[in-house]
Amino acid sequence: MAKIDRITVDKILDATNIVDVVSDFVSLKKRGSSYLGLCPFHNERTPSFSVSPSRGIFKCFSCGKAGTAVSFLMDLENMNYTEALKWLARKYNIEVKERELTSEEKEADAARERMFAANEFALRHFEETLANTEDGRAIGLAYFRERGISDAMIKRFHLGYALDRPDDLYKKAIAAGFTEKHLTETGLAIKTDRGTMYDRFKGRVIYPVHSLSGRVVAFGGRTLRKEKTVAKYVNSPESLIYSKSRELYGMYQARTAIAKKKDCILVEGYMDVISMHQAGVENVVASSGTSLTEGQIRMIKRFADSVTLIYDSDAAGIKASLRGINMLIAAGLSLRVVLLPEGDDPDSFAQNHSSGEVEAYLEEHRQDLIGFKVEVLMKDAGNDPRARTEAINDILQTIAIIPDVVEQSLYLDECARKVGVDAATLSAQLKRFVAKNAEAAYNKRQADKARESISDITEHGTGAAPEMPPVEPPADMAEAQAVTAAVASPDSQTQVSHAVYLAEEEVIKYVLRRGLLYMCDVYRGEGDEEPVPMTVVSYVEAEFANDDICFSYPPFAEIWKQALWLRDSVWPAEWAERERELLEQRATALALGREDIRNRGVDMDTIEKLENALTERLDKEFNEGVDNFASSFVRKHLLRSDDRSLTDLVAKLTSDNVVLSRMYPRVDPRADACRKLPLAVNTLKSVLLKEKLQKLTAELDKPHSNEEAMALMLEYRKLKDISMEFDKYTGEIVIMP
Ligand code: CTP
Ligand code: MN
Repeated sequence: MAKIDRITVDKILDATNIVDVVSDFVSLKKRGSSYLGLCPFHNERTPSFSVSPSRGIFKCFSCGKAGTAVSFLMDLENMNYTEALKWLARKYNIEVKERELTSEEKEADAARERMFAANEFALRHFEETLANTEDGRAIGLAYFRERGISDAMIKRFHLGYALDRPDDLYKKAIAAGFTEKHLTETGLAIKTDRGTMYDRFKGRVIYPVHSLSGRVVAFGGRTLRKEKTVAKYVNSPESLIYSKSRELYGMYQARTAIAKKKDCILVEGYMDVISMHQAGVENVVASSGTSLTEGQIRMIKRFADSVTLIYDSDAAGIKASLRGINMLIAAGLSLRVVLLPEGDDPDSFAQNHSSGEVEAYLEEHRQDLIGFKVEVLMKDAGNDPRARTEAINDILQTIAIIPDVVEQSLYLDECARKVGVDAATLSAQLKRFVAKNAEAAYNKRQADKARESISDITEHGTGAAPEMPPVEPPADMAEAQAVTAAVASPDSQTQVSHAVYLAEEEVIKYVLRRGLLYMCDVYRGEGDEEPVPMTVVSYVEAEFANDDICFSYPPFAEIWKQALWLRDSVWPAEWAERERELLEQRATALALGREDIRNRGVDMDTIEKLENALTERLDKEFNEGVDNFASSFVRKHLLRSDDRSLTDLVAKLTSDNVVLSRMYPRVDPRADACRKLPLAVNTLKSVLLKEKLQKLTAELDKPHSNEEAMALMLEYRKLKDISMEFDKYTGEIVIMP
């Protein structure tokens, strides 16, 4: 896949509206100036995923994930940078021109795209074989017909057939220009020890697996032979583009129906999904015979509030699968169960009934999970007290997972009634389970948090965060100083303490949020004639230069470097352009407003008053326009970088005043910067000083000659005095804003 040139990238990003993009995957509600929804990156019941259209960023206040529309697509849909841009280009109808690649770029970038292409080619080949070859029609098509599958479903699910020959697909793919590598990487072909190539799928009907966005990521091939020695299904292996635990068969075809009904029907196999679709029930996906993963549940939750499980009346199967569904309940999905008539599975049931009948049966026999579980387990336990206790505990454990307490108590009552045990007794036991779960969840959260707070510091140093043991997160600054995290950087052994990191973060946040906003005029030194106007960036620059300090956390240093570069090299031209626009807007508005006032034909006094009010308003608008442009300048440019770790860090750092509440205070950006930035800079200086003092103290503990010790002592006293001054100063600012 070729690189997209910068002009096109800018065009795409200009057209991109992050609310549009996120809405394709998450349902969002407007909340103040931003939008809110359920976070697709972790399981949650109350929305804390916020999207800011004006800034073009998203941030989850619960799991902390943040980024741009591009990073959203990259993570959620597992795309790389170029794929995400192309996706956006398609969405916004922007033509993408690509340049030729160097051979290394080809090697690196092309793999995934070629794998998709290979799968796409195979899909067409299998479809073609099914429709147009003698064997395809006589064997494959005949099989689907015999199973009652219509042509419409064959088309919709892109069903196919692979001829029973050693390398039919392989030869055709090579002839079409695919390489051995891409065919083995996707698993379409397999290389023997002797180096010969053969097809993975031979003499089988083919079920392609589509990702949520409709790309072919894998295939399942079913044998048509009856012998027990032949594997019934052969599936594509895990690869760069396919992770079994991330996909649900049929999701691509079902997503619209699921979103509409807010319910997702879960079945086991390919045929179940297809037959149900054919019977007009389209909100169906298959877990492909394995239990659900967190990722799959999250995918369901993006579209549905409830899950309906369809069981055939095979009791052993039911008991086995009942164990796997606690995760669904914990995710806040309500669970319903439909038991099919004896001897039917979803496929056969759908095949033997008209579409109206299937729908009606589901409606009529839908049962809530708890009630169903009580029935199945209690019947199984019979009159044996021990088995009954075990069954009741099993049920209570499921109830304990339900996140909604009201729902929980309703189910408890129902359960008590059905098993004939006093509700108070059950309630005591339930409380025990709830407490145990809460404790486990708490422990897990603490461990996660500790791991995150470490990786937050390390992950931006290089691509991958190193494995770190879980560490208690620091409660405050003093404690934080004790925690020192090594910044992962293979060439430099930079050590940044957590305290320094936090202090630097405060300052860099201002650089990103207020950027080139004019702050105030300052006098440099005594007897200075002319005050110098200062922007946020130049204020920090001056303060840093004064004390000869710089950002030590590498990603902040990088942001800082780029901010200075943007100010010096990009700002002048862009500002000139923007100022011209703003002035033009003002002039036009003024002319129109004046005309309007004159036309009203009021007396001269009133005209003058109205005109004054008009210019005042336009001046205010103009100034706000200037401030906005200047404030967002650095942030806006950095968010367009192709460096993922940079854009996500910037999004994270600029999003925490996107408030979750409907009410948010209107902050005067200039006053805010004037008041808080000096405080942040001084806090940083003070933290750096304290670290120096600590080092000195350590140094003093070592043996020294008298002179050396004296010098160290003097240095120590000097720093100590400054540090105390600082504490006083920063303290004052906090108390008296
Ligand atoms: N499956 C699989 N690999 C296997 C066995 C099963 O991927 N070796 C998945 C398939 O998605 C299959 C589902 O598990 O559809 C259920 O398996 P099974 O009940 O054995 O197959 P059916 O789908 O019922 O197949 P058919 O009705 O065609 O016999
Ligand atoms: Mn079946």
